[in-house]
Amino acid sequence: MRAKVNIDIANTEKLVGKGVKDSKKTMSQLIGVFKDEEAFKAADQDQVVYEVQAYMPVEEGKKGGLFWGNSMVYPGKVGTEYHMTRGHFHSNLDTGEYYWCLKGEGALIMMDLDRNCWYEEMKPGTLHYIPGNVSHRVANTGYEPLFFNACWPSDAGHDYASIEKEGFAARLFEVDGKPQLIKE
Ligand code: PA5
Ligand code: NI
Repeated sequence: MRAKVNIDIANTEKLVGKGVKDSKKTMSQLIGVFKDEEAFKAADQDQVVYEVQAYMPVEEGKKGGLFWGNSMVYPGKVGTEYHMTRGHFHSNLDTGEYYWCLKGEGALIMMDLDRNCWYEEMKPGTLHYIPGNVSHRVANTGYEPLFFNACWPSDAGHDYASIEKEGFAARLFEVDGKPQLIKE
């Protein structure tokens, strides 16, 4: 099975073929994700906040394979909180993942099982190892779309429910023009 991955974003060819899954998240699909409920209600609900193109060449849940993702988070804020992905733990909790930033400015926000939160700055070329047992989400802290790739085990799975229920213990807001991670 072959797929093309072009790191020249301006001329990026989309992944095509069997096993490719496209998904888009609009604001209306992100209820409860952002802190400022009033700002969320006032936001354009049809705007796309992020897109993911996943390449899943083996069946999801199968051990031993690897999946690939091309993710893009559009710039913007809800109140002073940056646009970001929902975030998740892996269902198979102790599985890790790589993120690799291609373009734009962002932050990879992580949280361990003791709810300690921290973040790593993302800019073109930064490689991020997300250890097992760590939830992860990405915020766009810049003014351009943020592009990053992800690579994760085919049996990792996504657990969104824990984050929907408990949230992250900290959030990334713009304070005095700069990102600041603020505890809940
Ligand atoms: O596998 C990953 O961690 C990524 O491909 C994410 O799924 C992607 O960035 C979208 O985030 P989320 O799955 O939290 O909506
Ligand atoms: Ni993941």
